[in-house]
Amino acid sequence: APGSPALTPPMGWNSWNSFGCDINEGMIRQATDAIVSSGMRDAGYQYVVVDDCWYEPQRDGAGNLRASASRFPSGMKALGDHIHARGLKFGIYMAPTDRTCAQRVGTYPGSTGSGGREAQDARTFASWGVDYLKYDWCNPWGTRDEQVARFTAMRDALRATGRPIVYSINPNSLHAITGDKYDWGQVADLWRTTEDLLDIWQNGNVNSYPMGVGNVVDVTAPLAAQAGPGHWNDPDMLVVGRPGLTLAESRSHFALWSLMAAPLMAGNDIRTMSGDVSAILRNPGLIAVNQDRLGAGGRRVRDDGNTEVFAKPLSDGSVAVGLFNRGGGSATISTTAAQVGLSGSSFTLTDLWTGGATGSSGTISATVPAHGVAAFRVSGGSPVAATTARLRGTGSGRC
Ligand code: DGJ
Repeated sequence: APGSPALTPPMGWNSWNSFGCDINEGMIRQATDAIVSSGMRDAGYQYVVVDDCWYEPQRDGAGNLRASASRFPSGMKALGDHIHARGLKFGIYMAPTDRTCAQRVGTYPGSTGSGGREAQDARTFASWGVDYLKYDWCNPWGTRDEQVARFTAMRDALRATGRPIVYSINPNSLHAITGDKYDWGQVADLWRTTEDLLDIWQNGNVNSYPMGVGNVVDVTAPLAAQAGPGHWNDPDMLVVGRPGLTLAESRSHFALWSLMAAPLMAGNDIRTMSGDVSAILRNPGLIAVNQDRLGAGGRRVRDDGNTEVFAKPLSDGSVAVGLFNRGGGSATISTTAAQVGLSGSSFTLTDLWTGGATGSSGTISATVPAHGVAAFRVSGGSPVAATTARLRGTGSGRC
């Protein structure tokens, strides 16, 4: 949204994917400390987002939201202080209608949504030191106009606090008519493009539920032009390191989210993650691609069924390229400089997994294993349409 504090895609961690409603202040503090000790903070992760179920089921006598007395007995201001003291930022969750999603589906009691209380709740969040609000629509009967009105009301309430608060919205159950069909760029800093991403590779066709990595890519890739500084497509939190994905699939998922200029919100239990998973989340080459200040969304420039090519222009004139193999067997995937938007005759390919560089000419090509992505930064050409320049990669950079 205009004036956004999110000039690059937000990076952080969110409690929902691994813990759902089973959260408390002790484990949020441990996760916060793990962001620091794992090196994630130094790699760029900033926001610690406490998702659904942090609140007391009833407001206080003055109508204020308050923290769950049993699970967050120190209160949300104290939790924010713990997070801020470690150089990180504090995110929280609420809903624009009468109920949060957990209240709507009945897994959590009460009715604490912010609908009609936007100004009061925004002031409460600001007083707790909140830096990021995830605002989650969970009313299956709403209309697009109602969504726009309610999401806009909280945008204005957050602005009125004077505190920079990243505004992350989820049009959720209505995504088929709004989430991926409406440009929320004037309203929010990021907006969900799909239903929830689970740790599965692909489930049936594009809009099958639950959604896997392939489903979410298919909905979000055509929306690339909407991405830019202060307004990001949000293809949901990362499932990198969750049990349903292989390491190769986690690598591909991370590379694709980096190329799509997606928010990088880890959703695994970072207190116990393996070194391999931590290394994926901290990959410096891909994070630099994701955080590039131009903010371009990666486009799918080639789709041959199970093999696809993504290209994301970068601020220094280079282009990040992903060769994506969705299929169950290895495949050789190739593209050209012209196809990824470069002209010239001599290029350097930097392998975004290894950091290794090669001078090259010819085609950009790699043999990519099943469910893998080869990812390169291609530099040295000119960022204009080309007809003759061609590149050849080394075939390294697979995962
Ligand atoms: C639906 C959202 O898509 C999830 O990310 C999570 O916030 C849940 N609601 C919480 O109930």
